Amino acid sequence: MRLVCLAIACVLTPIVSAVREPAWGRSKLGTVANEDPLAKVASLVTPYNYPLQVHNVQTSDGFILTLLRIPHGIEGTRGAAGALHNGSRPVAFLQHGLLDSAAGFLVNGPGESLAFILADEGYDVWLGNMRGNSLSRGHASLDPSDARFWQWSYDEMAAYDMPTMGTTVLLAALAGAGGSSGAGKRSGSGPPPGPALRADEIERAVLMAPVAVAKHISSIPLLAMAAMNTDDMFSLMGLHEFLPSQELIAALEGRLCVAQPYLCVSFLTSIAGYNPDNLDNARLPIYLRFTPAGTSVQNMAHWAQVAAGVWGFVRRNVRARAPNTMSFFDYGTDCASWTGRCNQLQYGRMTPPLYNLTAIRTPLAVISGSQDTLAAPLDVEYLLESLGPGVAKLVKNLDSYDHLDFIWGINAKDLLYSDVLRFLATGQGPDVQA
Ligand SMILES: *[C@@H]1O[C@H](CO)[C@@H](O)[C@H](O)[C@H]1NC(C)=O
Ligand SMILES: *[C@@H]1O[C@H](CO)[C@@H](O)[C@H](O)[C@H]1NC(C)=O
Repeated sequence: MRLVCLAIACVLTPIVSAVREPAWGRSKLGTVANEDPLAKVASLVTPYNYPLQVHNVQTSDGFILTLLRIPHGIEGTRGAAGALHNGSRPVAFLQHGLLDSAAGFLVNGPGESLAFILADEGYDVWLGNMRGNSLSRGHASLDPSDARFWQWSYDEMAAYDMPTMGTTVLLAALAGAGGSSGAGKRSGSGPPPGPALRADEIERAVLMAPVAVAKHISSIPLLAMAAMNTDDMFSLMGLHEFLPSQELIAALEGRLCVAQPYLCVSFLTSIAGYNPDNLDNARLPIYLRFTPAGTSVQNMAHWAQVAAGVWGFVRRNVRARAPNTMSFFDYGTDCASWTGRCNQLQYGRMTPPLYNLTAIRTPLAVISGSQDTLAAPLDVEYLLESLGPGVAKLVKNLDSYDHLDFIWGINAKDLLYSDVLRFLATGQGPDVQA
């Protein structure tokens, strides 16, 4: 059996939440502090009579990740995709982007959000949650209050989280594991036994608003961070969870945002924008309940390094990215710095290795938005140039789309998801590339 994998690389969500849920109990600010993140996400699914399973899986470096599964639509509808596969349900795996969680694919509800649409269509839908987000804060030996819990960026997500989640999904699909809610739950268990997911078991992938090469990021907060030396950033924010200052949360918490969610969201989405024309603005407070879902300072620093390619000329000490490349995290060359980390120790070389985008063989649909402050159309073009010939089967750009519209857009179903469904089913879209 092969998986139909829907890898949404980089749908970013905002950076600062006025109503963030400090589930780790470090804040005295919120009234929602004790709300269970899992119950909160489940409240997006179960009231609509969709089945929901929770699977916990442990990476080989100890992180306990939460996989959500909507194995089928209401009353087990088979849908078009099921029919295509002789009645069996093909697997669709949805992966959120920076500072988001599985909730991003659910917040607009049945008929609008992609996870429900895929379930209705006959897919066995799995939703990943990367380390450090509100649903994946477990570890075999480390607590989120420990700085060592947070020493990773998207390199580790790629090296550990994706393969572990993918293997789990593959094994469940092979076993035909349907089961009731909670079936297959294995909290705190070791890495899944059996074969690891291979790239050729991913039949095709859709990249929505992908950030790989990033020379045209116009997100102001990321550019501001990019102007900072990575070590300065660590000195300022520490080596742990990425959080806005407590004062800032305090100022935004409660009154202002309850009274003026629109104002708050405008501020929050300064990192990853949205186009109000594409949104049901009345839903903004709901989005705020789920985003941001948390990440590490090191991950934000990695993003800032990507953006630093833009500003490299401004400050000599910025570790600028080479053009048209996607690089591993740059630990710098100062092994005597207070962090005790450097490229020589980490990689055995002075510069971080590059990702080899030409090695991608999975047929891709690549969808960008003209208004995107993070995945700028020009950068997506550079990404396409970096891929091997014929890998991108569908290339599409949405003129009115900014970054968050890909998951929040009330018109996403018509403008975007219909093409996603067609591509997943047939490997083709309306603008098939020769
Ligand atoms: C469905 O069944 C037909 C006839 O048995 C077969 O030719 C086809 O390959 C099957 N399709 C899939 C996706 O398994
Ligand atoms: C990247 O991958 C391609 C395809 O696997 C390979 O031919 C090429 O040598 C690789 N490039 C580098 C720099 O490793």
